[in-house]
Amino acid sequence: MGLVAAACFAEAGHSVLGVDVDAAKVARLRDGEVPIFEPGLDEIFRTHLASGRLAFSPNLEEGIAEADAAFICVGTPQSEDGSADLRFVLQVAEQIGSALSLRPKDAKPLVIVDKSTVPVGTAARVSSIIAGKGTDRSFEVVSNPEFLREGSAIQDFLKPDRVVVGCATDFAEGVMKALYEPFLKASGGKWFRMDPASAELTKYAANAMLALRISFINEIAGLCEDIGADVDHVKVAIGADHRIGPAFLNPGPGFGGSCFPKDLQALLKTGREHGHPLMALSATVEANRHQKQVLASKIRKHFNVVGGAPSPLAGRHFALWGLAFKAHTDDIRESMSLELIDSLLSLGATIAVHDFEAMPAVKAKLGDRVAYAPDPLACCVNADAVLIATEWPQYKAADLEAVAGKLKSKLMFDGRNLFRPEAMKAAGWIYHSIGRRSVG
Ligand SMILES: NC(=O)c1ccc[n+]([C@@H]2O[C@H](COP(=O)([O-])OP(=O)(O)OC[C@H]3O[C@@H](n4cnc5c(N)ncnc54)[C@H](O)[C@@H]3O)[C@@H](O)[C@H]2O)c1
Repeated sequence: MGLVAAACFAEAGHSVLGVDVDAAKVARLRDGEVPIFEPGLDEIFRTHLASGRLAFSPNLEEGIAEADAAFICVGTPQSEDGSADLRFVLQVAEQIGSALSLRPKDAKPLVIVDKSTVPVGTAARVSSIIAGKGTDRSFEVVSNPEFLREGSAIQDFLKPDRVVVGCATDFAEGVMKALYEPFLKASGGKWFRMDPASAELTKYAANAMLALRISFINEIAGLCEDIGADVDHVKVAIGADHRIGPAFLNPGPGFGGSCFPKDLQALLKTGREHGHPLMALSATVEANRHQKQVLASKIRKHFNVVGGAPSPLAGRHFALWGLAFKAHTDDIRESMSLELIDSLLSLGATIAVHDFEAMPAVKAKLGDRVAYAPDPLACCVNADAVLIATEWPQYKAADLEAVAGKLKSKLMFDGRNLFRPEAMKAAGWIYHSIGRRSVG
């Protein structure tokens, strides 16, 4: 997120120093190498590395003296008790606090921006840590949660639906507005100023609402299968109600990624801490835990796995298309594919996997527990079935006759509903998907 923000602010004409404790990452960035896959990032990164507007350092002090604003974009992973682990945010606060004295005495207040997703009260904590360093230089901590989506991060940043800023003074609002105005002009997006606590909660509430919609449609999809309805019809018809809207109503194999799972846990923890249990959210998490098993349970049912040895999957071989938690990213954090791989391996199956971007990440994690195929077709050679976990458009465009030619039988478990059941049936496939009748 920090790298995307840095590149986009450089694109808007600002000078940005990107700081990271990971010296190897900084070295790669200085060498012109983008360490993640994100459409469009490479191009603006290279442009502004060359123009000099974008620079990198492992040393935070380098940037503080002259900065108008300092953005905190470090990770906030999940702690064991579900809460957001603020270790990195608080470390950076300490470092900024110590470095503030490098600023000229007559410098304008430094606007310190919490952009990481952090629980309510963190801006106040960051502020008191910095003040605790005894600096006489002025500063203000503001909350500015980020809503970009991996896979379309650059577009989301350059053309935001809205920018939320939690701050106490008009001065801080002015600095933030100047930074975001060009983006809001391009998108027609909205500006929301509020208090820091409300801004912090807005981010969690947005992610919770989106996750809730996914779990809701996934549950309706499961019910569709049981009663013989078709979720494709149901979702468009409910989405046509303007109070509901069509977005985020695609059933699938459960949500993953670096944000929803940890942010939901952190919000649940906030609720518990305040004696205010968030029941709809607990149910969302529980529904998703169940949903992440949906493909594995369809496979177990198809192959009559009822427990006990020998497993009917022993000696079976599967082709798995898609490893990233969603398309257009190489991120495998909390990806449902990893759970599916574990389930199938534990039942004695072997697996060949393919993804357009996430293979290196999976190789680093799983090593030779699975085979890695260079393309979707090669992945299917001698497989008993093809399984689809990520909605890469190239899979939807695959030549299914060629795919069938590689498989042992025309059997597909599609976690992303890339094809229509009737067409698959007509083409002679046995086809299982989400929320529609299995065919074949
Ligand atoms: N990834 C997204 O799509 C997304 C979207 C919106 C919000 N967010 C939020 O943004 C934050 C960052 O997420 P991410 O996915 O970019 O995480 P990340 O783990 O990919 O990146 C965090 C970076 O911070 C660096 N870091 C850690 N401690 C540091 C320190 N003391 N000084 C300097 N650098 C330090 C790490 O080395 C790492 O490169 C999280 O709070 C996340 O919830 C992420």
